[in-house]
Amino acid sequence: MQKNDRPIGVFDSGIGGLTVLKEIINELPREGTIYLGDTARVPYGIRSPETVTRYSFENTRFLFSKQIKMLVVACNTVSSVSLDAIRKSIDIPVVGVIEPGAKAAVAATRNKKVGVIGTSATIRSGAYTNAIKSLDPSVEVFSLPCPLFVPLVEEGWTEGPVVELTAERYLADMRAKGIDTLVLGCTHYPLLKAVLSKVMGEGVMLIDSAIETAREMRSILGGSSLIKSSSGAVVREFYVTDSPEKFLDVGERFLGRKIEFIEKIALGAEV
Ligand code: DGL
Repeated sequence: MQKNDRPIGVFDSGIGGLTVLKEIINELPREGTIYLGDTARVPYGIRSPETVTRYSFENTRFLFSKQIKMLVVACNTVSSVSLDAIRKSIDIPVVGVIEPGAKAAVAATRNKKVGVIGTSATIRSGAYTNAIKSLDPSVEVFSLPCPLFVPLVEEGWTEGPVVELTAERYLADMRAKGIDTLVLGCTHYPLLKAVLSKVMGEGVMLIDSAIETAREMRSILGGSSLIKSSSGAVVREFYVTDSPEKFLDVGERFLGRKIEFIEKIALGAEV
């Protein structure tokens, strides 16, 4: 198969990366995709950088064995702590979600006060702050881990009083800082957009890294002559490390399309 007709590999710690996959399919509908969700080991956001990097290499090796032309690290936690190591390990373009989100935040802010929310590992790494500051050192960045958002979304609770109270409790101080832009630095947070925007108020722009990442991918594929040229069938494969049932149910509803091909795989050994 010609290199540009190969699929794009996307991985996440679990189901959350489907927020990124959905935007990739919107932006690049003719490109084939192979998605890996490490559902047996989610969440990554509470783990040490060493463990996240070890899991990431196993995910990368699996997708690389599928002859992909580009790798998308949909997980903010992995993008924060392991992206450079992954980039050094393979010779295809690797796209993370931090830089695109940071770029969009810097472009959006008017008062140069930007908030960033994410998992504990993402916030601890300082990756968003560094990326934003390297684009514009005059931007003030306020970052905050919001660990309870992931289990709420996993449970399907994306609105209602429990989510609103949790968001209010986390974000009251952030609101008081007077930010005009908030980066949703976790795969799960775009699903809470309605509540987050209610809590933060209309004046605060929410930055969804997924949309920006898909745009960035288009420009990298174009710049490297990797846009698919054949008009053949579009590959849509899904792999998970735990049983596919829940992934299928939530995934199909979320993506708004049938998942025709899904397989459970084992990681942690040579693939
Ligand atoms: N995918 C993770 C992220 O974007 C959230 C879930 C997890 O902690 O693994 O940071």
